Amino acid sequence: MSLVEIKNLKVHYPIRSGFWNRITDEVPAVDGISFNIEAGETYGLVGESGSGKSTTGKSVVGLEKVTSGQILYNGHDITRRNNRRKLDYNHDVQMIFQDSLSSLNPRKRIEDIIAEPLRNFEHLSKQDEKLRVLQLLDIVGLDADALYKYPHQFSGGQRQRIGVARAVATNPKLIIADEPVSALDLSVQAQVLNFMKKIQRDFGISYLFISHDLGVVRHMCTNLAIMNRGRLVEIGTCDDIYNHPLHIYTKRLLAAIPRTDVSQRAAHRASRLAVEEIYREQQDKYYDDNGRAYPLVAVSPTHQVALPPDIAQQLAHQESEADV
Ligand SMILES: Nc1ncnc2c1ncn2[C@@H]1O[C@H](COP(=O)(O)OP(=O)(O)O)[C@@H](O)[C@H]1O
Ligand SMILES: [Mg+2]
Repeated sequence: MSLVEIKNLKVHYPIRSGFWNRITDEVPAVDGISFNIEAGETYGLVGESGSGKSTTGKSVVGLEKVTSGQILYNGHDITRRNNRRKLDYNHDVQMIFQDSLSSLNPRKRIEDIIAEPLRNFEHLSKQDEKLRVLQLLDIVGLDADALYKYPHQFSGGQRQRIGVARAVATNPKLIIADEPVSALDLSVQAQVLNFMKKIQRDFGISYLFISHDLGVVRHMCTNLAIMNRGRLVEIGTCDDIYNHPLHIYTKRLLAAIPRTDVSQRAAHRASRLAVEEIYREQQDKYYDDNGRAYPLVAVSPTHQVALPPDIAQQLAHQESEADV
């Protein structure tokens, strides 16, 4: 059994309009997605802005009302509030946000910010609580004098460390990291990613790591899913996605990874433009009449792709011939 199993999850937001403010339409922010997260792994969820990643993350922590489908945690459906309470789910599952300045209360000192989940769940003595907060600051590489400071007194990278310290305070099993380094400079990104990895090893945490940038996820994830318009267009191992991408949208995201290597810049730009061109020509084929990606079909035991029906059929045909 996987730690988390997401089964045909749908989250549709109502759109209200008119004089009576009636529901006139809906936004299918998440439109039937399924994937599993194994204990101790980092699972990447990647797609452009607006593809439904945050909505998926918020559904997994229980912050978003699910329209249909299931989210199983150790086999229990946590889309039901009762189950979340019984399982101590809010203790086991934490979230880190992209924007640390708005997710950390500006009027609270770091000591109180990091201690908040401890106060909610652990009920330690004042002295033990302070020790634990100091320990957490040390884990994320901040000095003890951070205790009495306020969020605005830190750089973006340091604030992200504070967010991580708060998220790991209760020894969670799963952390949803929603674009945790997207607001940081490249050099600081690497530092934050490295200590997130270290914490994962030390504490055996699983991450659902959300990003719009396939470059960031590359060195973090074991498996990943590519999300587009509320649907998954490709899922697989790191090797499947980076070395054998099949969906046109995945190829486009790969071509968009920023390169730092100056000597290759012209060649990289040319290949990105070529991929854009193919994308423009062929994208209609990869989506149905309603603009939805097709259902995923398995192309290997680990790799699934939302291929157009004719290509999927061709593939199945080749395989059955190979079997004979
Ligand atoms: N509370 C909401 N009400 C209505 N629509 C929303 C709400 N939150 C998000 N959406 C819409 O759902 C879609 C997916 O949003 P989101 O999950 O934030 O995507 P991502 O994190 O990939 O950028 C977008 O079209 C967004 O405008
Ligand atoms: Mg988002």
